[in-house]
Amino acid sequence: MKLDITQALIGAEKVNALKGKVEEAQQALEQGTCPGNDFLGWLHLPSSITPEFIAEIQATANLLRKECDTVIVAGIGGSYLGARAIIEALANSFQWLTNKGENPNVLFAGNNIGEDYLYELTTYLKDKKFGVINISKSGTTTETALAFRLLKKQCEEQRGKDVARKVIVAITDAKRGAARTCADKEGYKSFIIPDNVGGRFSVLTPVGLLPIAIAGFDIAALVKGAQDMERQTAVGVPFEENPSAQYAAVRNALYQDGKKIEIVANYQPKLHFIGEWWKQLYGESEGKDHKGIFTASVDLTTDLHSMGQWIQDGERSIFETVISIAKPEHTLLFPSDEENLDGLNFLAGKRVDEVNKMAELGTKLAHVDGGVPNLRIELERLDEYNLGQLIYFFEKGCGISGLLLGVNPFNQPGVEAYKKNMFALLGKPGYEAETEAISKRLA
Ligand code: PA5
Repeated sequence: MKLDITQALIGAEKVNALKGKVEEAQQALEQGTCPGNDFLGWLHLPSSITPEFIAEIQATANLLRKECDTVIVAGIGGSYLGARAIIEALANSFQWLTNKGENPNVLFAGNNIGEDYLYELTTYLKDKKFGVINISKSGTTTETALAFRLLKKQCEEQRGKDVARKVIVAITDAKRGAARTCADKEGYKSFIIPDNVGGRFSVLTPVGLLPIAIAGFDIAALVKGAQDMERQTAVGVPFEENPSAQYAAVRNALYQDGKKIEIVANYQPKLHFIGEWWKQLYGESEGKDHKGIFTASVDLTTDLHSMGQWIQDGERSIFETVISIAKPEHTLLFPSDEENLDGLNFLAGKRVDEVNKMAELGTKLAHVDGGVPNLRIELERLDEYNLGQLIYFFEKGCGISGLLLGVNPFNQPGVEAYKKNMFALLGKPGYEAETEAISKRLA
């Protein structure tokens, strides 16, 4: 993985001015003296993962792969986005049509309250041999609990209680919460989300690893990539050579310079959910105390035909971070056409990826000319190892960046506000005072 900040349109002196603060932030993370220090379990998570632990996850994955043609991952936010990001990045784009039973289809639920979504999902599952992974640290998240209730009942009815017990897995807190109580009562296989790893930093725990292994991908290689990046970003690596430290410093320097929005851009549709995962990681970590870069994402070149206008010509409060894949997995040439009605025969015989790369370079030049700072991350290939590197690079950058900004990057007090109102509106016991206050407000 390479990070290029040469087109960041910010003077080196402004970035280097943050070097001392970056080093302080790294020390604070390492020594556990920063705000949110009870949530630093992600910091040395990759290097703490043993081959035995990977084997245990793989064994459960193999059982579900054998017993199920479809596996539903129920989870939301940090209990969902990492697995989806990695699976969609690695899977064949038309996996539902092409996998011919080699791998179970991994579908996602518990991340919305859409009645039609859940109706259509449960209808689709009627003739499927399906299993469920219930992922919730708290066990009380409404979206996930609702989906799990529906799926558990359907799985038991369709497959019988004994099989259901084998193909339902819980990933939750070690001791507390509804998901833990249910798993212990029913005798489900369960994995623990460590107390000191927050949801958005949990993709390298069973939260991400089990669904990824079920989908047929190499979790050992993913972890190896993260382990290597843990070393490359460790305390003691010079500031100039530490990609996470550089990224954190550049984005904070840009923020201080008035760039309030960061857009993560990809040039491969498979990376769409990497953008979603990144948005949560940085948005939920930094958007606090009325501060923080707003995180956005675009899929290019698709969105050049829509948001491209805003990026090129809108308010100059943005910068972009492009994730580029150096080598695609397949080769496809631009075809020649006798009539050449579209005038594109000059591209005939070129690889599609060459056209894509020139679109990327042309866009970068145009955006830089238009005053949009450009950061570029290049992955050699879209594989487990490179994605493991990318995950840890962003996680470490996030920890450092949040501390530079002066917030606690590891809590999320703001996400409770909607839940309180929703429960009051739905008449949840214990919320009577809030219900009364809201009724008066809406009267
Ligand atoms: O990052 C986070 O902490 C959140 O996105 C949570 O993961 C999300 O709200 C789901 O919570 P839970 O795992 O308790 O169901």
